[in-house]
Amino acid sequence: MLLLLLFLTFPYYNLSASDHHLCHPDDQSALLSFKHSFSNPNPFPTWDPIFDCCDWYGVSCNDTTNYVIGLDIISDNLNGTIPSSLSNLKHLQNLRLHKIPNLFGQIPQTLAKLSHLRYLVISWTNVTGPVPDFLAQLKNLAYLDLSFNRLSGSIPSSLATLPLLRAIDFSRNELTGPIPESFGRLTGEFPALVLSHNKLSGEIPTSLGNINFSSVDISRNNLSGDASVFFGTGKITNTIVISRNNFEFEFSRVRFMESLDVLDVSHNKIYGNIPVQITEAVYLQQLNVSYNRLCGKIPTGWHLRYNKDGWDNSSFFHNRCLCGIPLDPCK
Ligand SMILES: *[C@@H]1O[C@H](CO)[C@@H](O)[C@H](O)[C@H]1NC(C)=O
Ligand SMILES: *[C@@H]1O[C@H](CO)[C@@H](O)[C@H](O)[C@H]1NC(C)=O
Ligand SMILES: *[C@@H]1O[C@H](CO)[C@@H](O)[C@H](O)[C@H]1NC(C)=O
Ligand SMILES: *[C@@H]1O[C@H](CO)[C@@H](O)[C@H](O)[C@H]1NC(C)=O
Ligand SMILES: *[C@@H]1O[C@H](CO)[C@@H](O)[C@H](O)[C@H]1NC(C)=O
Ligand SMILES: *[C@@H]1O[C@H](CO)[C@@H](O)[C@H](O)[C@H]1NC(C)=O
Ligand SMILES: *[C@@H]1O[C@H](CO)[C@@H](O)[C@H](O)[C@H]1NC(C)=O
Repeated sequence: MLLLLLFLTFPYYNLSASDHHLCHPDDQSALLSFKHSFSNPNPFPTWDPIFDCCDWYGVSCNDTTNYVIGLDIISDNLNGTIPSSLSNLKHLQNLRLHKIPNLFGQIPQTLAKLSHLRYLVISWTNVTGPVPDFLAQLKNLAYLDLSFNRLSGSIPSSLATLPLLRAIDFSRNELTGPIPESFGRLTGEFPALVLSHNKLSGEIPTSLGNINFSSVDISRNNLSGDASVFFGTGKITNTIVISRNNFEFEFSRVRFMESLDVLDVSHNKIYGNIPVQITEAVYLQQLNVSYNRLCGKIPTGWHLRYNKDGWDNSSFFHNRCLCGIPLDPCK
């Protein structure tokens, strides 16, 4: 126990305090000014110039160039705003500021200078303001996660111009307005789109039907229109979650991709029947079509494939006149 305590008290115990530092002085001073921008006296004990900054908590460097390319901070001990001095880490590729409850203010414009950024995560913080338009200047961005913050305003359509963007997660914010029509021109390979738990409204752009999404979760918004654009037999999508919106379209016309694993369309105004073609989605493990306006006989056989007991009736209940197992027999 004592040893453990010692270890916890001196988390930098295993670092080498040698004179030979690989870290570039510019990077080190950028990191120190990041640290000093917070009101806390000493948030990261290892962030001390007696150690090589490539060994500091949350910092990673390229093995060849020794430039700082990654900064990954999780801290309930930081209090302040995202410092604009971050942009002095000119070679940064991966930036994650995660679970920092006392991180406030807006995403600073100077982040647009981090032209090598590929992976940007600012999540589970109290950051406010918009999803900035200037993120569209980060041409190498592949992964953008701004989930669980207090961002408001609409989604900038310019983000669709990012050529490599493969994952967008803006879930659990206070975003309003529509999903940009331009998202139908995303060019990243099999993008994932996660916009759940916001206040988005307006119709689903038909252009989104052009995209081979790997997964889509736009649940718990106030979106309307025809969400059948996400479906289609040729696609490789494994998750489609569109529950708790205002979608109104004919389910009978939908064709399901074989790759589908999770499908939740509950709490909408979807009508028609459940087409027998859904049995071609042989990997389907989670299904929920409850609280819609569906009618007709539930296809048989398929729902027993992965779950011995079948899906329970809560996957199907509260529709207009669905019938058959696991609901009441059709008349
Ligand atoms: C490190 O830098 C070298 C030289 O620029 C580059 O070839 C290599 O891909 C980089 N490695 C990583 C992990 O970024
Ligand atoms: C954060 O810092 C501000 C100003 O320094 C202070 O007013 C506030 O109480 C601090 N909040 C927390 C949670 O430490
Ligand atoms: C935002 O701040 C509030 C109040 O200090 C806190 O309860 C909440 O957990 C914070 N949010 C996040 C995502 O950390
Ligand atoms: C949701 O959108 C509909 C229009 O599609 C609108 O009539 C309704 O007021 C909106 N509800 C909320 C809570 O914003
Ligand atoms: C989706 O991607 C798969 C796998 O690359 C490809 O076979 C299929 O044609 C694509 N479908 C569409 C609609 O782009
Ligand atoms: C389906 O969704 C409804 C409504 O949200 C929920 O009550 C039910 O438990 C869900 N059933 C399954 C199997 O997920
Ligand atoms: C769903 O199943 C439960 C338990 O088997 C049953 O009590 C309930 O009445 C069923 N509800 C409907 C709508 O079929």
